[in-house]
Amino acid sequence: MKSRSKSVAKPAISKPQSNPMWGGHYASGPAAIMAEINCSVDIDQRLYAQDIKASKAHAAMLASKGIISKKDGQDIANGLDQILGEIESGKFTFSRALEDVHMNIEARLKALIGDAAGRLHTARSRNDQVATDFRLWLMDAIKDIDAALQDLQSALLDQAEKHTSTLMPGFTHLQAAQPITFGHHLMAYVEMLGRDRSRLQDAKQRMNEMPLGSAALAGTSFPIDRNMTAKALGFDRPMANSLDGVSARDFALEFLSSASILGMHLSRLAEEIVIWASPAFGFITLSEAFTTGSSIMPQKRNPDAAELVRAKSGRLLGAFNTLFVVMKGLPLAYAKDMQEDKEQVFGAVDTLHLILAAMAGMVRDMVPNKIAMEKALEAGFITATDLADWLVRAANVPFRDAHHITGKIVRLAEQKKCGLDSLSLTDMQKIDARITKDIFSVLKPENAVKSRISFGGTAPAMVKAAVKQARKRFVK
Ligand code: ARG
Repeated sequence: MKSRSKSVAKPAISKPQSNPMWGGHYASGPAAIMAEINCSVDIDQRLYAQDIKASKAHAAMLASKGIISKKDGQDIANGLDQILGEIESGKFTFSRALEDVHMNIEARLKALIGDAAGRLHTARSRNDQVATDFRLWLMDAIKDIDAALQDLQSALLDQAEKHTSTLMPGFTHLQAAQPITFGHHLMAYVEMLGRDRSRLQDAKQRMNEMPLGSAALAGTSFPIDRNMTAKALGFDRPMANSLDGVSARDFALEFLSSASILGMHLSRLAEEIVIWASPAFGFITLSEAFTTGSSIMPQKRNPDAAELVRAKSGRLLGAFNTLFVVMKGLPLAYAKDMQEDKEQVFGAVDTLHLILAAMAGMVRDMVPNKIAMEKALEAGFITATDLADWLVRAANVPFRDAHHITGKIVRLAEQKKCGLDSLSLTDMQKIDARITKDIFSVLKPENAVKSRISFGGTAPAMVKAAVKQARKRFVK
């Protein structure tokens, strides 16, 4: 995958000499540590494909507007194509002395086609160049992440469909609250991930404006056609203000904030998987493929993948926080601080791919343990709400009173150390005479679940329909 190429080992930047791209008025080169702190090519070489694409569009526009000759335009395009081939076949060596990906590519172009290479940077600056490349890169990355999210949704949908009537306790405060189905629980995550996808699409749509042509900050005196380059690069339109064009990074922050929320969702699911897979719960068994054994305790099957998803999701918020702090005090327009943007975004994209794939694998492989789930339904008087609802429905008791009566019945069951359905009818009638033997049917978790047919409710029929709808909405 283009957007995920590995970074290279870092050779020290050796010969300090004045920079061939901007060092005209410099008599000497940078201090070694200056070169080191300034160098970003280890990170931003991942933009090579977008950089070449944008440069080709820019050169074609310059040629078509007569700003450079057709011949130079063609030489530039051919040279850039060759460089793309060199990079993709691993023949290109990025030089740390040339600072960043943009100057590496331009220097190679000069070596290949000579002086015409120097005309490519007409009416352009690295400021609008990098902002353009980065948007193109991130829009592609969002496409890949969306596919990974859809894959995780599919894994959840497949499990949910198999378990539309598998009973388990639903929790509030991590205390058994009301019976639900396992399928219903998993479908909650399908919805969350659907919103995550929509947040990312939303960010992508706003991102789809082109900075190129903003030049350094003020626009240019050359007769460029920004609509032409925007169209060639697939942007909706050129950005309307050149200062904003080179200094906006809210597109990256929107991505990182959406990624942080997505990470929070994955972390919650990971946490539930850890709880469910714990021997004390035993609700699910994770596959060998997504767990590890212990080197000392032979019985262990640890949920490491879930734990790492939970932990790694923190990096996403870390990236958002880092870039936000980088940006918050910067005056317009460009400042070198902004070079730090890419490391955060690239890292977040890599983390997302890793944790989404690990989560999809775990979800596909996990096997729910119906016996343990049903056993857990016996604890916590899980159908108490159903008892109260029955009093409202069958005996016309106001809900507040029904709640109170049910509380007394729960206390009696606690005293007798039995479940609600093990109390005798006489015992219950002593608390409220309106209770009849019909009550026993609502005390069964299975019936409680079946009765919750409100839209979005946990009844198996509703969950089945929700799975069908969700496939249409999210998978297609
Ligand atoms: N490598 C730089 C970055 O990523 C490119 C822009 C440099 N612009 C400048 N004015 N020095 O931000």
